[in-house]
Amino acid sequence: MSRARESSRAPGAPEAPKVIGGKLPRIDGPLKVSGRAVYTSDVSLDGMLYAVPVPSTIASGRIVSIDAAAARKLAGVRAVYYRGNLRPFFRSAPPQGFSGLIDEKRPPFEDDVVRYYGQYVAVAVAQTMEQAKAAADAVRVRYAADAHNVEPHLATEKPFRTESERGNADAAFQSAPVKIDQTYVTPTEVHNPIELHATVAAWEGDRVTLYETSQAIMNHREVLYQMLGVPKENVRVVSHFLGSGFGGKLWPWTHSILAAGVAREVGAPVKLVVSRQSMFQTVGHRPRTQQRFRIGAGHDGKLLSLHHEYLNQTSILDDYGEDCGEATPFMYSVPNVRVISALAHRNIGTPTAMRGPGAVPGLFAMESAMDELAIALNIDPIELRRRNEPQQDESSKLPFSSRHLVECMQVGAEKFGWARRDARVGAMKRDGLTIGWGMAACSWGAMRSDAQASVEIARDGTVTVTTATQDVGTGTYTVLALVAAEATGISLDKIDVRLGDTSLPPGPISGGSWVTASVIPAVSNAARVAVRSLLTMSTTGPNAPFAGAKFEDLQFANGRVSRKRDPSTGVPIGEVLARANARAAVGDGQSSTTLGGEESKKYSLHSYGAQFAEVSWQPETARLRVSRFVSVIDAGRMLNPKPARNQIEGAVVMGIGMALFEEARYDKRYGAPINSNLADYIVSTNADAPPIDVTFLDHPDPVLNEFGARGVGEIGLAGTAAAITAAVYHATGVRVRELPVRIEDLLRG
Ligand code: MOS
Repeated sequence: MSRARESSRAPGAPEAPKVIGGKLPRIDGPLKVSGRAVYTSDVSLDGMLYAVPVPSTIASGRIVSIDAAAARKLAGVRAVYYRGNLRPFFRSAPPQGFSGLIDEKRPPFEDDVVRYYGQYVAVAVAQTMEQAKAAADAVRVRYAADAHNVEPHLATEKPFRTESERGNADAAFQSAPVKIDQTYVTPTEVHNPIELHATVAAWEGDRVTLYETSQAIMNHREVLYQMLGVPKENVRVVSHFLGSGFGGKLWPWTHSILAAGVAREVGAPVKLVVSRQSMFQTVGHRPRTQQRFRIGAGHDGKLLSLHHEYLNQTSILDDYGEDCGEATPFMYSVPNVRVISALAHRNIGTPTAMRGPGAVPGLFAMESAMDELAIALNIDPIELRRRNEPQQDESSKLPFSSRHLVECMQVGAEKFGWARRDARVGAMKRDGLTIGWGMAACSWGAMRSDAQASVEIARDGTVTVTTATQDVGTGTYTVLALVAAEATGISLDKIDVRLGDTSLPPGPISGGSWVTASVIPAVSNAARVAVRSLLTMSTTGPNAPFAGAKFEDLQFANGRVSRKRDPSTGVPIGEVLARANARAAVGDGQSSTTLGGEESKKYSLHSYGAQFAEVSWQPETARLRVSRFVSVIDAGRMLNPKPARNQIEGAVVMGIGMALFEEARYDKRYGAPINSNLADYIVSTNADAPPIDVTFLDHPDPVLNEFGARGVGEIGLAGTAAAITAAVYHATGVRVRELPVRIEDLLRG
């Protein structure tokens, strides 16, 4: 840890001001609570028009005709576009790594085929949003409908694909003394960030600025320039603030392309805000999964075989794979493993990554199966996992960079009071309620990607940090300010962080919980270069204040350059820069990926955690509540524990929704998601959130970056639903294997 602190400071920089590891509120908080933070749908431009798409009302078939005559006559309507009267879009080339990603690959209006309910078939443009909505409603579309398929039961269409295999999982299962063989189902879940997806597109000649709700502006530009058929440098994407995304805003969706296309056609800026209803259809979701999980074990609880066979729903055209088996091969020590996957194509919108994609539904299955095994063996579930703790990643045969799962479980057990648990079903009572306790382990990959950043130290002593990443609402502005303050010794109130604009040095996506790990090395490198540049200006040039002094004999502290042995001789930044006739000292920094890079080849990089849930159950009124939660997270060093804790708390609340409430259901008759609103698609509210005790283990991960920091955006959701259904079983004796838990399930018990 001290090594990390050393190397994060610029040479000549002072003792670290200990800003890192403090509890700093978000620096963008005042802007947000005072309403001055401009979100995409707040953007208003001169002459701006509004676009409202026309969604299909069938889930499969062809468009026969579109009649926009009545719509065009309505007040304020400027145009109605559809296939045939709008310049066609191109497809973007297949992605290169984490650049050029798009999940729904078909551009809008590419053909006259409808493949899901809500697919955009036309778009109305008018002076006000209300006028555009009225016009969209007035467009008459005739369809030739085909039979659609939104069947929730998933079956393979092709042979399963092998994701991971070692030993002989089938033979080991057959001969195992104890067997678990169960199927777990997770439903379609919709991200539902409070901020609606939106695009404001403004062209100047053949250049376009897209104000976007994007978790990945650089990628957005990469896709959009290709689809619009303009040079890359002609597309600028801006996303200053996000009202969250949960993965739904990672890759571009059809409304963004449509907004850019109609703005070009109509010759005015266009705003398109996706309706809440359309957000259930056109901007991705976590797909339904069906996972058969087989465990073979000895009577001592030692795992002999894991067999994870899973399917997920995807759309007709796009093969989106939910990587449910992500954690299965390395989580526990087991000689025989088989992980296989398949897709089931349905007439639904294309799925996408949702918070902890793959691992979150996958760990619901694996951790539920582990709990069932613990019960079958009459072994404590923590002890069962401890007995299967691996010494290395047994799938890659690599050492873990940092793994403290057992400690997570031990600390969690202490905090939760696990020793007082009576394992018998329904045995624990409190205040006339039956209490259930459950736990689950979890993991999430630790990654980082390429990033660049610039740091400028200006004459007035202010520091500007720039990088084209974005803050999804999690505290990226704040953590980068902390890193710049730490590296320059300049106080936080003088640091300005600018993000969310593709004209800045290219930064990473806000996804996979890796933005922090990726950007902080680039910012600290840039800050180091800027300080070095300042010291160089202090010693060279005709008016240099320390002309001829040795670089190593100088320091930069409290905004002044001075001789180390005589700090009273300090010269303020402004004077150093003025004497050098320089506007600012600048530094560029970068950090490179470990994805496929050298470090990732030497280590298995993951975060870990242990989740403990208490539920209370009142059978007389069929009332089930999560009444207490303890989450212990091993995610490296926390640079700013306050927003980090906030991430875990939010993830646990989301996990309660996953366990008990969330499910988008498709109507068999129409193929439409029928509960496409926040009244019928239930998410956790404050009233559903119990006291949540969050603990971070402090084990910096030296492999991932010099700060030892991993991300925390997703790990808190992993394992949460399994801990809750384990607690539900403990209270009620009902094992719910298909989420969400329904009262009806419990009444059957
Ligand atoms: Mo997260 S699903 O990678 O935004």
